[in-house]
Amino acid sequence: MADKRRKSRSYDGTPDEKVRILIPRSRIQRRIIELAKQIRQDFPKEPLHLVGVLKGAVFFLSDLARGITGEVSFDFIAVSSYGKNARSSGQVKLTKDLDASIEGKTVIVVEDILDTGMTLQYLLRVFEQRKPKRLRVAVLLDKPDRRIAAVRADYVGFTIPNEFVVGFGLDYAERYRNLPGVGVLTLKTRDKGEFSDK
Ligand code: IMP
Ligand code: MG
Repeated sequence: MADKRRKSRSYDGTPDEKVRILIPRSRIQRRIIELAKQIRQDFPKEPLHLVGVLKGAVFFLSDLARGITGEVSFDFIAVSSYGKNARSSGQVKLTKDLDASIEGKTVIVVEDILDTGMTLQYLLRVFEQRKPKRLRVAVLLDKPDRRIAAVRADYVGFTIPNEFVVGFGLDYAERYRNLPGVGVLTLKTRDKGEFSDK
């Protein structure tokens, strides 16, 4: 019983992987409500069109959309980055386009994390050509230390250090997206038998 009541500091990983909780679900939920209110205050009377970047942004978008009062619609786009690992390689390709036009709409791009900025730089170029009325960016997480492209988000949930994170939509090889909060993933280095940051 005592064990159950004690606050856990990690999520279950695999024998070779550990996930240390960085931002628990309760803090994320509170922050998303704040962001939703802020967005509505900035655009008090306009219908808002959220564009989520699959798949990482699904939970952030679904909570954000339900937190914004008034008229809200949403759509999804998917991109992949060329390269051998999960992190962005710099070259981005569109793999699923939006269903509807964004022309004349107040668009908020919703992304899980702003890392090097290459993905959002690419997407913002694509969207600007489609003549939205306004174009804004909301990210759950911002990792400014890794920035390469000159991109900034208008709405940031949390600024985090340069660590590889999973959970609340973010994955490592498609796993851990379902964790309720965000945690830092560490991998066990087989030769040393120790855990180190990814
Ligand atoms: P960027 O193009 O480097 O800004 O990277 C954006 C994409 O890289 C995100 O949408 C994620 O899919 C992925 N990414 C970057 N950092 C992390 C991380 O720490 N964990 C999981 N995915 C990440
Ligand atoms: Mg992503």
